Amino acid sequence: MPNPELQRKILKLSSELLKKQIKWRRYLHQFPEVSNNEFETTKYLTDELKKLSITTKKIKLPTGLIAEVTGNKKGPVVAVRTDIDALPILEQTNLPYQSKNKGCMHACGHDMHMATILGVAAILENLKSELHGTVRFLFQPAEEMPPGGARPMIEEGVLDNVKMIFGLHVDPHLQTGKIGTRDGVTMASVTDFDLIIHGKSGHAARPHHTVDAIVTAAEVIESLQKIISREVDPIDPVVITFGKISGGYARNVISDKVHLVGTIRTLSPKASKEMPRKVKRIAQSICKARGATAEMIIIGLYPVLVNDVDTNSIIKNNYNNLFGTGKIEDAPQVLGGEDFACYLEHVKGAMFRLGVMNKKIKADKPWHSPEFIVDEDALYYGTFVIVASVIDALKKL
Ligand code: NI
Repeated sequence: MPNPELQRKILKLSSELLKKQIKWRRYLHQFPEVSNNEFETTKYLTDELKKLSITTKKIKLPTGLIAEVTGNKKGPVVAVRTDIDALPILEQTNLPYQSKNKGCMHACGHDMHMATILGVAAILENLKSELHGTVRFLFQPAEEMPPGGARPMIEEGVLDNVKMIFGLHVDPHLQTGKIGTRDGVTMASVTDFDLIIHGKSGHAARPHHTVDAIVTAAEVIESLQKIISREVDPIDPVVITFGKISGGYARNVISDKVHLVGTIRTLSPKASKEMPRKVKRIAQSICKARGATAEMIIIGLYPVLVNDVDTNSIIKNNYNNLFGTGKIEDAPQVLGGEDFACYLEHVKGAMFRLGVMNKKIKADKPWHSPEFIVDEDALYYGTFVIVASVIDALKKL
């Protein structure tokens, strides 16, 4: 059971830190960097952690880092992960601290995640006497761009000795002061892929001497949607989306090549495994029928995100105890993906949702919107619940 006296102490420390966390967050918000280019972000995080006397360590990837706080008492290791990348979006919030890197924006709240985790590290550094073991902080690059930063970090050994991992994601549909949790399958597997259709080019008026890659691509796109309605169990949700298509040279030239950029989302590992084979089969068969060929390239794969029940109950107990019942909502299942799921393939853990909605300050736009705004007061709730949960987890594990 969480210790009420300690909880009040954490709450006090969290509220004292809020101003500084807002400062961190606004700085990071003004200088966002896209996936795998988070060089200044990594430098800023390293500098701020050093100012807090926290041990940092470079990783093999060009960006990102890890940090550790070791308690005065012996015990296992738990990890806390934040993503650090932003999106290629032109910010349209008109906030005084809006992005100074034009065309790049923290529109998914990863700046909030970083400021929360910096705060967690700062507080734990002051609570070493309460810590039975080590907390490892993973500042992970490239969450937004499969294959993502999680897998290479895992291969490098960032999960060595880790017994439990915690993650968070802001939620603009959940009121500030609330958190969302869900046991088991919560987010979708993501299979990002490219399809390249090869035909034979020629004059627009002489189609019989060519293989039209554009007409063939149209047929492929339409047929692939029929996988969903005819080849997948209707109670097993699957989505195929092509977000980009390019090909062709001029109005009067038949194109020999079309490039399709797609993503597959599923909520079951079974569908995740089967879908790429089905897509390849249909694409290649249709191309063959038309005299064309299809090449399928898998760009990246995030597994289904499965939250652990024990980790969730640690989070829920600590939150409930202090803020009372009614502040925790059931997070819905979504077909969005997250490479936090990769960590959960190796170690038990959970990602919770942190409410950042506040209609008074227009903090209610969806993720990835150019008008995405968050309620910074949420930093306080996120920091408290992670500090309390990791201290609790280290005692229990
Ligand atoms: Ni995100």
